[in-house]
Amino acid sequence: MELTVDRVSKLYKNKIAVDRVSLRLHEGVYGLLGENGAGKTSLIRMVCGVLKPSSGSISFDGLDVGDEEYRAALGYLPQDFGYYPEFSAQDFMYYMASLKGLTKPVARAKTRELLELVSLSDVAKKKIRTFSGGMKQRLGIAQTLLNDPKLLVLDEPTAGLDPKERIRFRNLIARLGQNRIVLLSTHIVSDVEHIAGTILLMKKGKMLHQGSLEDITQVIRGKVYQCLMENHEAQELTRLYPIINYRSQGEKVLLRFVCQGDPPAGAVKVTAGLEDLYLYYFSEAEGHE
Ligand SMILES: Nc1ncnc2c1ncn2[C@@H]1O[C@H](COP(=O)(O)OP(=O)(O)OP(=O)(O)O)[C@@H](O)[C@H]1O
Ligand SMILES: [Mg+2]
Repeated sequence: MELTVDRVSKLYKNKIAVDRVSLRLHEGVYGLLGENGAGKTSLIRMVCGVLKPSSGSISFDGLDVGDEEYRAALGYLPQDFGYYPEFSAQDFMYYMASLKGLTKPVARAKTRELLELVSLSDVAKKKIRTFSGGMKQRLGIAQTLLNDPKLLVLDEPTAGLDPKERIRFRNLIARLGQNRIVLLSTHIVSDVEHIAGTILLMKKGKMLHQGSLEDITQVIRGKVYQCLMENHEAQELTRLYPIINYRSQGEKVLLRFVCQGDPPAGAVKVTAGLEDLYLYYFSEAEGHE
């Protein structure tokens, strides 16, 4: 099983949203991580065949993204997925099943099985308008699974989930990634840190890094420090190093930063995580708050 993205670019007028991205994805969970506007949705929409690349090609096991068989292998949850508030969860599933061409008996059996899978069986007959954000997201995922897709693509599936729902979601994705390719986008670091075997880090349309958590944090390994200091000292340090976190602690500030050479006096080395890497790459855009 392989999804191949070969030097794919997307140009909107004169703005480059996706810049020569190449990927080879196999079974497992992939977390596409990037700040707002990085190009995640543009890339995902091209992978799902709803947006035409300006250049490059996309295929799944030899099937071109335009092929009907490619579509049949795909499950897609868009970022702005529209639910019908007056539908019950069950009716919504039947409706989506009919759009996907499933017969009534199959639709019924699948709906029962999938609502069970996403823990919505006991609210199957309740209207969607009464659902929490997390329940809607789980229903959204359930509908993507109606055709048992080999390629499952979820755009920002954890947006608006509370911590409990987030954990529930992670467990569901872990199960789903066992025999298919799951590609999910997010700008929440802890989501991918916990569920994605492979992290795809995207910035300004480019794929900066791809690899396991260990692989991609390699760049800053052993170079992350913390230091508690006076405000004026902190200002100075801010000019010298890429600051990845800046937190007031009473009169002082706690700085977390990346330092390539000898650290300043009083700095303590800390374990580099994905959050550090993310802030390291994106702090320029986010400001040193
Ligand atoms: N239809 C469009 N026309 C023009 N520019 C667009 C269009 N869609 C997206 N863009 C631009 O392309 C860039 C990438 O947008 P995209 O939606 O792919 O980013 P994203 O990573 O999904 O962001 P978010 O995290 O906010 O969902 C942005 O600068 C955006 O403004
Ligand atoms: Mg998006």
